[in-house]
Amino acid sequence: MTILGIETSCDETSAAIVSKSPKDTKVKVISNIVASSLALHAKTGGIVPERAAREQVKLIIPVIKKALEDSNLYLPSSKNHLLSSTIYRPNIDAIAVTVGPGLIGSLLVGIETAKVLAYAWKKPIIPVNHLVGHIYANFVGKTQKLTTDIQFPALSLIVSGGHTDLVLIKNHGNTKLLGGTRDDAAGEAFDKIGRLLGLPYPGGPAIEKASERGDASRFTFPRPMIYSKDFDFSFSGLKSAVSRHVILNKVKNPGDPSALPQDDIDRSNLCASVQQAIIDVLVSKTLNAAQKYKAKSILLGGGVAANQSLREKLKVKCQMLNVEFFAPPKNLCTDNGAMIASAAFFNYQEVPWRNLTANPELYFLV
Ligand code: KG4
Ligand code: ZN
Repeated sequence: MTILGIETSCDETSAAIVSKSPKDTKVKVISNIVASSLALHAKTGGIVPERAAREQVKLIIPVIKKALEDSNLYLPSSKNHLLSSTIYRPNIDAIAVTVGPGLIGSLLVGIETAKVLAYAWKKPIIPVNHLVGHIYANFVGKTQKLTTDIQFPALSLIVSGGHTDLVLIKNHGNTKLLGGTRDDAAGEAFDKIGRLLGLPYPGGPAIEKASERGDASRFTFPRPMIYSKDFDFSFSGLKSAVSRHVILNKVKNPGDPSALPQDDIDRSNLCASVQQAIIDVLVSKTLNAAQKYKAKSILLGGGVAANQSLREKLKVKCQMLNVEFFAPPKNLCTDNGAMIASAAFFNYQEVPWRNLTANPELYFLV
């Protein structure tokens, strides 16, 4: 079976062709095209939803076409017309598309395109929760290995720009939200603190890079809610603490390229200390939840899952607890169509194209 996955919930425009044979327990990515409008958002220091959606309107058809071409599903006879159903209908079985959570304008670009293609090509549509997509990036196999060692119950930590969630997965299609952030998400904290320190958007990768030269024990920042018994998170206090530190210590123009070397050392130390504070909270809460719910596997997901220190620390702690640790390859941590198609294989629920709607507030069942 082959599925076209479409993802446009935030600033990326992505399409992927993914296949799975009945005997395999992982999916195979045939093509995965991601067009990012990051450069555009770097100028404004964050995403302007209207601009993101306009960019996606321009990108969506070329991106889908490229995904089909790269998988050899695009026929030369189709004369560049994705929609001429009489002469071109790709050899796929279904279309999976992100229906939420996300930015309404961005979601609609993917959803309306999926509807039109489903109608023209006479293919079923499978709506996918973006957060479930992040979990299922862990079910993408390496070329030669399409069976998985992921055992249930599994616990997933989803850390992205909009979410920090701990989700218990009893089986495919059977998930329960254990906790989430009460204010800023982990990625949002990275992005906002990055901006405070004058780093380029997105802050996560920039803070990770600057941290490499820094001393994480140089500054002690709060680890919000680390000892609370629940599985909720809160990161806005950490952002305020860094802001206070910057003001009190007169770290002037922290991102000024003409700053003295001393300023740069301080910034690296600040970044390393902030990164450590965020990771400490994420790891501690995840392990507590894994123990309480006797998880056999831990599945990391979301853009922040690309952070090497987070991956390493969780892996080491999981080994100590005898729990299997999984994290997607880094290119599948941030938003992409392959994870959406992967989620569709394991949560296959067709809907008539007429019934497909965007749900920007979509979440997990508690
Ligand atoms: O999952 P994603 O691509 O989009 C959302 O669904 O939000 O996540 C984007 C987030 C951003 O906040 C970005 O700063 C963060 O992921 N991020 C990272 C890293 N790479 C991306 N955070 C920390 N370290 C990274 N290496
Ligand atoms: Zn995401």
